[in-house]
Amino acid sequence: MVEEILMLGGNATDGVVRVGSTVRKPWTVATPSVLAFVKAVSDAGFDVPAVHGQDAQGRQVTEFVPGRLAMDLPPLTLPELFRVGHIVRAIHDASATYQPAPDAAWITHIAPPGTDLICHNDLAPWNLLIGDRWVFIDWDASAPSTRLWDLAYAAQSFTLNDASADPRLAARALAAFVDGYDADFELRDALSAAMWQRTTAMYQLLETSHAAGTEPWATMFTSGHGTHWNAVTQFVRKHRSLWAQALQTVP
Ligand SMILES: Nc1ncnc2c1ncn2[C@@H]1O[C@H](COP(=O)(O)OP(=O)(O)OP(=O)(O)O)[C@@H](O)[C@H]1O
Ligand SMILES: [Mg+2]
Repeated sequence: MVEEILMLGGNATDGVVRVGSTVRKPWTVATPSVLAFVKAVSDAGFDVPAVHGQDAQGRQVTEFVPGRLAMDLPPLTLPELFRVGHIVRAIHDASATYQPAPDAAWITHIAPPGTDLICHNDLAPWNLLIGDRWVFIDWDASAPSTRLWDLAYAAQSFTLNDASADPRLAARALAAFVDGYDADFELRDALSAAMWQRTTAMYQLLETSHAAGTEPWATMFTSGHGTHWNAVTQFVRKHRSLWAQALQTVP
């Protein structure tokens, strides 16, 4: 019998375990839709954890991808941020033509501003494994959204997630990420405001969940995440003109 090793690094899901070369996570009402989407992204030629279905205990089974989470590594360099932006673009492009089943179920905690394509919704340093491969894990929050909303979260979480950072350096990091995405004028114009709206929505999810006692966000709110997202929301709002300016230059 292969040993089950509890995986740390996430907040939202209890019971994530490694079993040999696989990872097991609880099966939810959205899992069939999520796994079908992940498989479609893979079929489109993009590198994601391989999908292995369901185990005897009813859990979802995906490939264990070796590497370290980006959030546990030193800050990514500008070329590395460019690379991540490029990966996010490739995910969106691979998803753009995907048509989910009409009765597909998704679990969405933050309402998106539109439903243009299926998005990962948590493309952040806590879900990117860096090793020989650079692979985004944790696709469970995949659901309909928009490129702008998903990019806003990814760009902010990779480049504007430290409210104590020098804003000018943060702006350079943001520009590298968005250059990697190869964003068009429309996205660049809208991104600064969208990042502020997205961080605000994240903070509000934590705050309202805390007020209502809804887990896991209720506990996350008081264990540092509330303070963090409040500070980041202020940071993203305060320097919004700087971000907009940094995004105006198309390479
Ligand atoms: N496919 C995988 N390959 C390697 N490690 C993985 C994989 N999936 C998950 N992990 C590890 O398990 C941890 C928790 O998994 P995951 O991110 O899916 O959980 P979560 O609680 O839903 O996360 P979050 O708080 O980001 O929503 C990850 O941080 C990572 O260290
Ligand atoms: Mg995670």
